[in-house]
Amino acid sequence: MASDRPKEPDPRVTRLRALREKAREGGGKERTDSQHKRGKLTARERVELLLDPGSFEEFDAFVQHRCSDFGMQEKKFLGDGVVTGHGRIGGRPVFVFSQDFTVFGGSLSGAYARKICKVLDLALKVGAPVIGLNDSGGARIQEGVESLGGYAEIFLRNTLCSGVIPQISAIMGPCAGGAVYSPAITDWIAMVEHTSYMYVTGPSVVKTVTHEEIDHESLGGALTHNQTSGVAHFMSADDASCLALIRDLLSYLPSNNVEDPPRVACADPADRADPSLDSIVPVDPQKPYDILEVVRRVVDDGKFLEVHSHYAKNVVTGFARLGGMSVGVVANQPAVLAGTLDIAASLKAARFVRACDCYNVPLVTFVDVPGFLPGTGQEFGGIIKHGAKLLYAYCEATVPKLTVITRKAYGGAYDVMSSKHIRGDVNYAWPSAEIAVMGAKGAVEIIFKREIDAAKDPAAEEERLVREFTEKFANPYAAAEFGYLDDVIEPRDTRPRLVRALSLMRTKRDKNPPRKHGNIPL
Ligand code: HXC
Repeated sequence: MASDRPKEPDPRVTRLRALREKAREGGGKERTDSQHKRGKLTARERVELLLDPGSFEEFDAFVQHRCSDFGMQEKKFLGDGVVTGHGRIGGRPVFVFSQDFTVFGGSLSGAYARKICKVLDLALKVGAPVIGLNDSGGARIQEGVESLGGYAEIFLRNTLCSGVIPQISAIMGPCAGGAVYSPAITDWIAMVEHTSYMYVTGPSVVKTVTHEEIDHESLGGALTHNQTSGVAHFMSADDASCLALIRDLLSYLPSNNVEDPPRVACADPADRADPSLDSIVPVDPQKPYDILEVVRRVVDDGKFLEVHSHYAKNVVTGFARLGGMSVGVVANQPAVLAGTLDIAASLKAARFVRACDCYNVPLVTFVDVPGFLPGTGQEFGGIIKHGAKLLYAYCEATVPKLTVITRKAYGGAYDVMSSKHIRGDVNYAWPSAEIAVMGAKGAVEIIFKREIDAAKDPAAEEERLVREFTEKFANPYAAAEFGYLDDVIEPRDTRPRLVRALSLMRTKRDKNPPRKHGNIPL
C-alpha cells in the first residue's frame, strides 16, 4: 500500500528542527569545551542527569533577549542562557531551570528571568518541586535595571512558593551579588566542590572595602558555606553526584505541602531489635558516644541522608525512613561540644524542624543535651533569640513528633528538644536518661552550698550529695512518674517502638490558631 506521507519532511518542520538544534548548541562548541575543561557539565547535560531518562520537556527554547544596547542585537542565542521546563524524578513531576554559563556567562536578562518565573508560577499551580541549577555571572550588565527587576520577580516567587512546594538550589558555578538571594530563600542549597562559589561581593570588592585578601574558594566556596557560614546544606565532589543527591533528597519529600511524603517498600523488618544499642551509652555520663551510630542502627537499612553535615556538628539533622515512611531526624551529638546547643546548632536545627513541618515530614528527636552553651560569645551573639528559634520551631510544628531521650535532658534544653510539654506526641526514654534542671554536680553545688561548706570534709560531703542526687534524679523515672514520658524503653527496642509510634501517628491532625503568620524571633 502506497504511503501518502511525503518522503522529505515539510520545510516548516525542517525549520523547527534546525531551530531546536541551534537552541541546543547554547553558546557554541568553544564555550562548551571550556565548560567541560573546568570539570563542569553543560546546562542541558545537567538537566538530563537530574531527571528520569527521557522525561524532560522544554519550555521557551526560542526566547531571546530584547536588549539592543552595546551591540547586543547582534548577539542573540536561542533560549537566552537558561534551559527551563519540567520532567520527572522518581516518576513524580518536577520543574527545573538550568543556567547556561556558555551564553553570556549565564547572566540574567529580563527575558531569562521571565522564563524562570514561568516555571515557578506553574510549579506553584501544579504543586510540584522546583530545582534551580545555578551557574551564572549574575545580572546581565548590558540590561541594567531590567535584569535587577527580573531578580526581584524571582525572589518574590521563591518566597510565595516557600513552604508550598519544595525548592532546591544547586550551585554549580559562580553565584554572586544579589543573585545569591534566590537560592538563599529556597529550602536547600547544594554546592559542588571547587567549581562553585557564592558571595554578595567578590574578592576584589572585599579587598577594596576591608583590605582583606582572600580567593574565591575561601570566600565563598562549597566548604566555606557548608562548614563556616552554614549557607549551604550539602557539598558534592562533582556535578553528577550533586544531581544524584538532589534526586535522593526529593525522595523523602512530598511534591507539595498538602501531600504526604511517598512511602517506599521496606525490606528492613519493622520489629528488628538491636541489642548493641543497650550498651552504646557509656556508664560514665561525661564520656561521649556517636549519636550517628544510634540513628543509623534505628532507621531503615541504616540509610541516613545527613543535612548540614559539616556545620554545627553538635546537632545532627537529616532524613531517613522508618518502616518505609520518611522522617526528619534531629539529634544532639554528645561527641561534639558534649552535645550542647549553641547559636549555630539552634539555627541549624530550627531551620530543619520548620522545613520538615511545612512539608509534612514527621520528626524524630534523639535527646542527649547538657544545656545551652555558656559564654559571652554565645550571650553577645544572641543565643537567647537563636535558641528561641528552635523552641519556636518545635512548638509550632504540627507533624507527628517522636522523641527518644538517650541520656541527658537538662534544663531549658529538655523543654526545647521536642518535650511532651510542647506537643511531643510519643516521648520515650532509655534507662540511661537523666532528666533534671542541671547535672548532679552543678545542682549539689547550688542547693547544698551551705552544708558542703559546713562539713568537716567538704569534698567527701559533696561527693556523697552528688551520689545521692544522681540516684534520685539522674534517671527517667521522675519524668515518667508525671507522665512526661510515655514509656521507658530498652534501647534495643527503639526501632520497633518508633516504627509503631509513627504508624499510629500517621493520621495525626493538629493545627495552630489562625493568624497571618507567627512572629518567629528572627
Ligand atoms: C553580562 C557577562 C556577565 C554579566 C560574565 N559575562 N558575566 N555578561 N553580564 N554579569 C560574560 C563575559 O563577558 C564573557 O563573555 C562570558 O560571560 C564569560 O565570562 P568570563 O569573564 O570570560 O568567565 P570567567 O573568567 O569564568 O569569569 C566568570 C565571572 C566573571 C567570575 C562570573 O565573568 C565575572 O566576574 N562577571 C561579572 C560578575 C558580576 O559582577 N556580576 C554582577 C553581580 S551583581 P564572552 O562573550 O567574552 O565569552 C548582581 C546583582 C544581582 O548580579 C542583583 C539582584 C538583586
